Amino acid sequence: MEKELIIVLDFGGQYNQLVARRVRECNVYCEIYSYRMDIEKIKAMNPKGIILTGGPNSCYEEDSPTYTDELFKLGIPVLGLCYGAQLMNHVLGGKVEKAPVREYGKTEVFVDQTSPLFENVALDSAEKSTICWMSHFDYISKPAPGFQITAHTADCPVAADEDREHNLYAIQFHPEVLHTIEGSKMLYNFVRNVCGCSGSWKMDSFVENAIAEVREKVGDGKVLLALSGGVDSSVLAALLAKAIGSQLTCVFVDHGLLRKNEGDEVEAVFGKEGSFDINFVRVNAQERYYQKLAGVTEPEAKRKIIGEEFIRVFEEEAKKIGAVDFLAQGTIYPDVVESGLGGESAVIKSHHNVGGLPDFVDFKDIVEPLRNLFKDEVRKVGLELGLPEFLVYRQPFPGPGLGIRIIGEVTGEKVRIVQDADAIYREEVDKAAADYKEENGVEATWMPNQYFAALTNVRSVGVMGDERTYDYAVVVRAVRTVDFMTAEAAEIPFEVLQTVMSRIINEVKGVNRVFYDLTTKPPGTIEME
Ligand code: XMP
Repeated sequence: MEKELIIVLDFGGQYNQLVARRVRECNVYCEIYSYRMDIEKIKAMNPKGIILTGGPNSCYEEDSPTYTDELFKLGIPVLGLCYGAQLMNHVLGGKVEKAPVREYGKTEVFVDQTSPLFENVALDSAEKSTICWMSHFDYISKPAPGFQITAHTADCPVAADEDREHNLYAIQFHPEVLHTIEGSKMLYNFVRNVCGCSGSWKMDSFVENAIAEVREKVGDGKVLLALSGGVDSSVLAALLAKAIGSQLTCVFVDHGLLRKNEGDEVEAVFGKEGSFDINFVRVNAQERYYQKLAGVTEPEAKRKIIGEEFIRVFEEEAKKIGAVDFLAQGTIYPDVVESGLGGESAVIKSHHNVGGLPDFVDFKDIVEPLRNLFKDEVRKVGLELGLPEFLVYRQPFPGPGLGIRIIGEVTGEKVRIVQDADAIYREEVDKAAADYKEENGVEATWMPNQYFAALTNVRSVGVMGDERTYDYAVVVRAVRTVDFMTAEAAEIPFEVLQTVMSRIINEVKGVNRVFYDLTTKPPGTIEME
């Protein structure tokens, strides 16, 4: 498939991935690169368009991220957003300076002229305005020669300007942020109309293509995959199964810290009874893990044991299988960008689940067919490949599993308690959410992005059927978050929480109290440990 490419040049803005996701929602493929990328490389990639992101600097200061004016003379359409808009005007001879008034938040933007970017954009008819998201302290005080102002706000004379003849467009606000009501349409106008992309980036053609690529790379080689049962590794397994069938071996380590029935669910999909013709090895390592974890209470020590034990178990299995040609990894695009390989932001996240494997498995090369996909695209691929929805829409689950949802020492008994409590909690929240949606036609505003039960190490006195109890307290947590970096407690309806409380206490032996965790992140974290 001939891929039409848009390049997002990252100037350190916090929304760089969002820009790329929005472009892909227009069915146009795009990749994020650092603004340091050489012009020759850009030319060689032959993009249909270039988008410059926002960033925290002032473009008129020395040492600020910049690009030479060659970028704007390639004959390739360029769209600058926020810092990118200022930089474009600055480099091409306009003036950018500190704004007398800093704009932040939802702002009314008035459209002064027609523009290809504002085609079909819904405007308030009297004012010719729409709401946008602003976040800037500098502004364009004088457009570059050849640029026309196309929009303004009360405090910003140049909210958008353009040199239409050369296909150069600058927008001071952030169309990629949902608060900019018509933002997606503006990005669509840029990539589809100005750049002329046809919109052929679709997940069905991705699957077809990825299968062909895997076949070509792997040939008749053997591939090994550490399957965790999470979204990425499950989709990867399904994709590889379609591509190379029984040349694939999946090793699934059940460490006894999974959610209730999860091990069996994964086995039902990928094991002998499932629909994929692969080699599936389930290692029941529960007891081994519980023994290693006995008496250990310190969170980091627990994480370390769980991680190391995983490598050991996997190593033993890999030895049984013998040399393989390829190791498959479920790397996805945010991992690539966040590890500094793609964009400019330098957040480095370790790969919690498969980190360390390449050190001891005997293999020649790595296959990572999902490495260019965002999470929502991975999910679409999963559905395309026929994976059940419960696997594809699974909420994030940490590699160390329930090990970090049991405060203090982990035992088999405590795992049983937290599994049962968590299953009840998720069932009730899911039911209430489904009822809400059926009644109202939209998703509940309280619908959490992650919700689970954890076990405290608090035991307290209670009374049940005239008898004194001295049992554990379960804590239930539900958070709303976009990026899992910050989060707030979801306002689960009180009656749902009451049902959860009474069901957990009645149905789960060993629990006599239920707490609801209200803590935001920061200062809390989402998980307990
Ligand atoms: P925290 O607790 O750091 O969690 O606020 C943020 C998100 O990351 C997940 N998480 C993990 N995922 N291995 C993982 O694969 C881990 O060790 C780990 N710790 C936290 C957590 O579930 C949440 O979605």
